[in-house]
Amino acid sequence: MKDNRIQFKKYTSRKEQLEAQYNWEYFAKQHKKGKLTARERIEILFDENSFEEIDAFVKPAGDITTNVFGDGVICGHGKINGRKVFAFAQDFTFMGGSLGSVHAEKIMKVQDMALSMGHPIVGLIDSGGARIQEGVASLAGYAGIFHRNVKSSGVIPQISIILGPAAGGAVYSPALTDFIFMCRHTAYMFVTGPDVVKEVLNEDTNSEELGGADIHGSKSGVAQFIYDDEEHTLLGVRKLLQYLPSNNVDLPPITEMEMEAPENPNKLGLIIPEEATIPYDMLDIIKNLVDKNSFHEISECFAANIITGLARLDNKVIGIVANQPKVLAGVLDINSAEKAARFVRFCDAFNIPILVLEDVPGFLPGSNQEHTGIIRRGAKLLYAFSEASVPKITVIVRKAYGGAYIVMNSKNMGGDFNFAWPTAEIAVMGPEGAVKILHRKKLANADNVDETKNKLISKYKDNIANPYIADEKGYVDEVIEPANTRVKLISAFEALENKYMEKNAKKHGNIPL
Ligand code: HXC
Repeated sequence: MKDNRIQFKKYTSRKEQLEAQYNWEYFAKQHKKGKLTARERIEILFDENSFEEIDAFVKPAGDITTNVFGDGVICGHGKINGRKVFAFAQDFTFMGGSLGSVHAEKIMKVQDMALSMGHPIVGLIDSGGARIQEGVASLAGYAGIFHRNVKSSGVIPQISIILGPAAGGAVYSPALTDFIFMCRHTAYMFVTGPDVVKEVLNEDTNSEELGGADIHGSKSGVAQFIYDDEEHTLLGVRKLLQYLPSNNVDLPPITEMEMEAPENPNKLGLIIPEEATIPYDMLDIIKNLVDKNSFHEISECFAANIITGLARLDNKVIGIVANQPKVLAGVLDINSAEKAARFVRFCDAFNIPILVLEDVPGFLPGSNQEHTGIIRRGAKLLYAFSEASVPKITVIVRKAYGGAYIVMNSKNMGGDFNFAWPTAEIAVMGPEGAVKILHRKKLANADNVDETKNKLISKYKDNIANPYIADEKGYVDEVIEPANTRVKLISAFEALENKYMEKNAKKHGNIPL
């Protein structure tokens, strides 16, 4: 018969040994680099005392002898805002958070659990990449993680938080997830580091310039959320999760907090300037439309000519895609098309209805855009809107010209409700361009070119560039007053709650990538 006292003693000593490894030295190692430890990060990320660790006692594979448990990654599940979430947090203090085969198996285990149980997963990355000592076994570990990232894509929300290095192929697991958070000055991501860049290209750079948080937040578009310190980065993840369902058959959560409507709906009618060429801030429209303080912008600093974000309308989560006239007049270009396309696909995968606020003069012209693939990459947004089966509503607030009109969830692209404000200008092109083409001879022979042109422009606006032709033809369901927009949208989204779309049987479409 087993002696229970011996068994419990062994159990207690193992627990004590585990606790002892988190001593002052452990914390000091990270703190002196201006970083938190994996344990501290988990405490901030999860609701108090809710985290349950699994596989805490595993040891590294092969010849690596150590008294330290865990193999450099803490895995488990807990609650965030009261809802279950799985997580893994790499521990840089153990072999630089490098990914050995056991470390990888631990991550794969929580990935499998999160997917099969239908809960979001958050990865906290702080790692020197593949563990050099373990060679191909660590590469195989990465491959297994990537494979699971892809299997989970569109089934459970996957979030990556970069809080240290993410180098080499290791960047591709975060890249396969839905959102990447980065912390300024301590996080960096690159496929090849500054030393390799110097060796191959003789280019001088450093980690921050090559792959720091600001570069990925504003230039490459790799990271969607950038924060100044780790605490705010982790709290940012908690905030984002408030808008997301746990999986693709779940609905986004209704908050228990009382949401308020914006104070004065009449403000909406005062935002569009008299003159069509004058910019304004589309955020003013968004904030005066959705529930108070509910708009949460995504990819704020990348391709700012388009706004993407989540908000609540009458307490229900919606995704917003809106042109931003304040930046590049709100044109569509390669970056804005890709940014919006990815967001639309995220919303569609996770049952988040989409609201489009449109003021777009067209696609950005020029050889740079053509040569870098505006045809191929602009098509992504067309594809994403067209394919999305969640409720989709467009409100044209000002310009809706040419191909850009079509792209922004127009009626014939599958828009469920398409509204326009009286200030809408819907046409093949803007008045200036149209008048030049249609009246070239008249303008060439005119005594007073400016006066003739202005008269023709005014006639074009009255007869063509307005919302009423589209309204008469049913391409716009209703021209609405700005002050009524919120009420109209709440009612339209309510009508769409039972929307059902039959899909053709196919393996998958072939989105232009
Ligand atoms: C094993 C590693 C390691 C690694 C770091 N360490 N990276 N151990 N495998 N990949 C160890 C160090 O030996 C050191 O151990 C401890 O972690 C801390 O590292 P330092 O270099 O002292 O820290 P720091 O100065 O902050 O530099 C961090 C770093 C650097 C920039 C990440 O360690 C580094 O360049 N590491 C290698 C990065 C890399 O090239 N990884 C492979 C990428 S390729 P001690 O015992 O001294 O404390 C890849 C392939 C994936 O990942 C493929 C997927 C498809």
